[in-house]
Amino acid sequence: MDLLSLQRTRAIRTPPPAARPQINGPRIVGVRPDSPFQYYIPVTGVRPIVLEVSELPSGLHFNPKTATIQGRTSEPGHHKVVITGRNVEGQHTRELTIVVGDGLALTPTMGWSSWNCFNAKIDQELILNQAQAMVTTGLIDHGWTYINIDDGWQGGRDADGRIQGGANFPDLRALGDAIHGLGLKFGIYSSPGPKTCAGFEGSFRHEAQDAQSYAEWGVDFLKHDWCTAQILARVRRLGGYTALLPDRERAEVAALGVEIDTLKAAGISDQDSEFKNLLERRLAIVLKQTTASERLPIDLAIEQAPYRLMGEALRRQGRDIVYNLCNYGQWNVWQWGPQVHAHSWRTTGDILDSWESVEKIGFSQNGLEVWSAPGRWNDPDMLEIGNQNLTPDECFTHMTLWCILAAPLLIGCDLTSMDAFTLSVFSNDEVLAINQDPLGRQGNRVFLRGQIEVWRKPLMDGMTAIAVFNRGEEVADVDIAWADLHLNDQVSIRDCWRQRDLPQLAAGLKTRVQAHSAELFRVGKS
Ligand code: GAL
Repeated sequence: MDLLSLQRTRAIRTPPPAARPQINGPRIVGVRPDSPFQYYIPVTGVRPIVLEVSELPSGLHFNPKTATIQGRTSEPGHHKVVITGRNVEGQHTRELTIVVGDGLALTPTMGWSSWNCFNAKIDQELILNQAQAMVTTGLIDHGWTYINIDDGWQGGRDADGRIQGGANFPDLRALGDAIHGLGLKFGIYSSPGPKTCAGFEGSFRHEAQDAQSYAEWGVDFLKHDWCTAQILARVRRLGGYTALLPDRERAEVAALGVEIDTLKAAGISDQDSEFKNLLERRLAIVLKQTTASERLPIDLAIEQAPYRLMGEALRRQGRDIVYNLCNYGQWNVWQWGPQVHAHSWRTTGDILDSWESVEKIGFSQNGLEVWSAPGRWNDPDMLEIGNQNLTPDECFTHMTLWCILAAPLLIGCDLTSMDAFTLSVFSNDEVLAINQDPLGRQGNRVFLRGQIEVWRKPLMDGMTAIAVFNRGEEVADVDIAWADLHLNDQVSIRDCWRQRDLPQLAAGLKTRVQAHSAELFRVGKS
């Protein structure tokens, strides 16, 4: 082992899983009446493990061969299902609430996405290899579920306008089946514009058809981007703002030359610089003549329309498709995402594989917690853990922050070549349980002391998750009085990363935090 690998192995905090069974994953899942339901039961412990499931609503059954609950149910309500796992070492029983109703993504989405490490250089075999690695690495048994293809899978459309996979994706339905066969779920990507961000075919004017194709392929998740929808939105805004102007200015805008539609009719594309220049000149005029508050309802309606179109199309399918918006947080998307039927929305631009990017994006989320709840999550973008540039301490910060934020967790590294450290960061059930807590509250900052930030997240059982971050360049000893956390003195302290209880302290919490690192605790009445 070289020195770097040795250092990374030494940095591991997560203890190996116990030998006796431990059921992991979310404690609550949503399904719409009569939609196909598939839930693989994540469980660690020495094999063989015999699983038993009772109290299932009618229409759902447990398949012990695949460790999966499946079927369709039309019984609405909260169904408390009891799951027991047994092996030679012991047994574990846990309740899973299946909510049959309108809500999906009742805990943040956990899975993998191709973009951060492969960009558009993907193919069907690569995706399937990643899905298989999700199983062979054991990540599936910690609750990791979705295998999401990002940009780069699309070919053209057939004579009837139906979207096709490119030569690199010859059979998307077979891929969906294979992913489901592994106990996982299948995600895909598109854009409301004519082209996606990487220049592939988008869903513009084909929303209903695309939603139907996704359902036929067995898609469970859609990330809907923005990119070329931007120019369409600007054209529509110009129209909307111009209508606000008095006659004289309206004529001035029109007099600017050829109408945009004429340009289009002449075959000049909306990506063309002549088109863009004209658009910008006309926009500059109307911006001067109108106020932001006059424009806001127009802006919002224009931004929401394409997302609503796809959201409604997805809802019409006979399967549940979790819907993620990717407009980079424009127009305060967190305020209206649910109105267009989305379950999560990106709050920022793209994350990069660097400490600066993770830090800038992650810590900027404070304040957005009021907009997050089960089925409506703020998404600060996919994880960079396991790629080239983050140190082990920075990986602890990244994971701790995304868990305290109740952010969707989408791994962005190559699952087939993770080292032991990376795998350990993704396999810590106590850390993941903070992210997946059924109360679904996004944490926020309670105080800032120099480079030290303390964040907290209330949990379902009345306990509180406390994260201590050191954004500085030096190791720090941090002392936090219970009063600072609005807690009284009789609290138990659990170190989540190392999965061990710490001695109770009357005064508060004391911890050492390495530079760029984080610690995560679960505190409350013992
Ligand atoms: C960006 C998006 C990325 C990725 C990329 C694909 O707009 O933020 O996460 O999906 O497009 O082209």
